[in-house]
Amino acid sequence: MCGINGAVGLKNISELLFEGIRNLEYRGYDSCGVALMNKTRLILKKDVGGVEDVYRKHNVLQLQSNIGIAHTRWATHGKVTQNNTHPFASNDGNFAVVHNGIISNFRPLRDQLQKEGFKFSSETDTEVLAHLLEKFYKSSRDIEKAFVKVLNLIEGTYAIAFISSHLPGQIFCARRESPLMLGIGDEIKFVGSDFSAFIDHTKNAVILDDGEYAILSRDTYVVKNLLSREEITKPITKIEWDSETSRKGGYPHYMLKEIYEQPQTISNALDLEASGLDEIVELFAKSKNSYLLGVGTTFYVAKYAKYVFSQIAQEFYPSISSDEFRVLTNLNKQSLVFSASQSGETFDTLSALKYAKSKGARTAAVVNVMGSSIARLVDKVVLQGSGPEICVISTKAAVSQMVILTVLAMKLALKKKAITRKTYNQHMRALQELPEIIQGILNERSGFIHRLAHKYSGTRNWLYLGRGVYYPIALEAALKMKEVAYVHAEGMPGGFLKHGTLAMIDDDVSSIVFVPPPEDKSLYEATLHSIEEIRARSGFVLGIHFTEQGKNGALYSEELILPKVPPLTAPLIQLVIGQLFAYFTATSLKRNIDKPRSLAKSVTVA
Ligand code: F6R
Repeated sequence: MCGINGAVGLKNISELLFEGIRNLEYRGYDSCGVALMNKTRLILKKDVGGVEDVYRKHNVLQLQSNIGIAHTRWATHGKVTQNNTHPFASNDGNFAVVHNGIISNFRPLRDQLQKEGFKFSSETDTEVLAHLLEKFYKSSRDIEKAFVKVLNLIEGTYAIAFISSHLPGQIFCARRESPLMLGIGDEIKFVGSDFSAFIDHTKNAVILDDGEYAILSRDTYVVKNLLSREEITKPITKIEWDSETSRKGGYPHYMLKEIYEQPQTISNALDLEASGLDEIVELFAKSKNSYLLGVGTTFYVAKYAKYVFSQIAQEFYPSISSDEFRVLTNLNKQSLVFSASQSGETFDTLSALKYAKSKGARTAAVVNVMGSSIARLVDKVVLQGSGPEICVISTKAAVSQMVILTVLAMKLALKKKAITRKTYNQHMRALQELPEIIQGILNERSGFIHRLAHKYSGTRNWLYLGRGVYYPIALEAALKMKEVAYVHAEGMPGGFLKHGTLAMIDDDVSSIVFVPPPEDKSLYEATLHSIEEIRARSGFVLGIHFTEQGKNGALYSEELILPKVPPLTAPLIQLVIGQLFAYFTATSLKRNIDKPRSLAKSVTVA
């Protein structure tokens, strides 16, 4: 899982390449490198570390070139070392290659190349590409032919870009199951893993599909079909995001900026065109068995949706982690598989959807990135319009997806008369009030949450408890804590406590409980019961609740009292608190907020 960027233009492009690859760092940031052309000779600079450090260390910006490719890596094959960093050069130094994905048959290819005398400098799957290009070029003296031959030989997934000193004004690239797009500017062309690689320079993009390759030069570009080698006319996609939206806008971290953008992104979700949502509701209504999918955060979005569909529309749709989908499901033409994905590129979700398609099932998704693989694969897509989510940790995209899924459940309920128009309107009003309530909480409560998080930042173990629809909220809030603060946090339904977990309650284990509003009587009472079980064992409880009677020291060790809100939106408000609590704990612990360890934005490998 890595980021690819390339540019060919009239003037020196090393700075553009630097900006582009820095924008892609959310895809991977353990090492990075660049290949540029000095007249007709390739120069490679690469090292372990983030883009800024590596560029500074190797004085990359001093180099002059009007063509180049760059790469930022998140290791999958081979350790994080300079030798394993992209780009890779062929033995004769005439080809430089960057790659994202996995070449699954690289071992036999490597063995064969080694027998033929090619020397390998890395442990990666990618390096075979550079040597194969050299080998096939030597026999055909035609770079395009050599490239096609390589593409036909390799198995697995890839986005590839390379340059060659034999044709010093052209970039070659291709994709299979890893995103790659072209940026079409005047007298400059780009290739990138996503729009942010070139959004500052052009808003015109061409999205490559599987089985296609492209050749770019300063003034032209051509996209061809890999099988026929015939030219394909591809539509230009106008990128709607502006570059400012992609930047931090005064916040210390993207994570905080994105948490604060939620009033806006929820409004955007509520403004989505009704007809698109109605088409998806139609799919749910027609399907005989529907499944809700996602991984990581989006699995919790799917779990949240499971409760919402059940409560509002009286439909039970299992939620399944995409990576477990194949082994669990029984699909046919009457099935519907609905997935949530911020990036639209996540391998497990993409594979599950492809599998669903192969079984004849209908597919649909809510996705944040237009033109992404999932957005293009499914029968029906909702583009959630949350804008770029740069922090590796998902916040605003997930909450918007939860809102959209709630609207879908309401629409389905209305259609099948599980709720009246009056109830539908009441629910809709509750959702419409949500952005303002969240804005108020962000304005008025952030300081308190900051102090609370700081005070308890030494806590080693947290139990996050919720019942009913508050259970997926507890799971997602706990995931935020693990991801950004690296603090052990386990989400669990309140009912689990008495089946083993109570034995864990001691000074080293603290609990956060998401308490529903009292109007949700049975859930509220059951949750209080869980709290009492912990307090009876002298356990610490931070209660996040809506009861206005003021401080309830007997029940809670600490409490965060929220304004009275309708039960429909209460869990979403509590999730925002969970996001802030994780964020401030992480800042107290001086974590790397936007690029936490062992996490990448779009997991495009198995
Ligand atoms: C959580 C996180 C991951 C992603 C998961 C799915 O903060 O970043 O758990 O949610 O990898 O990614 P998408 O939504 O892009 O399919």
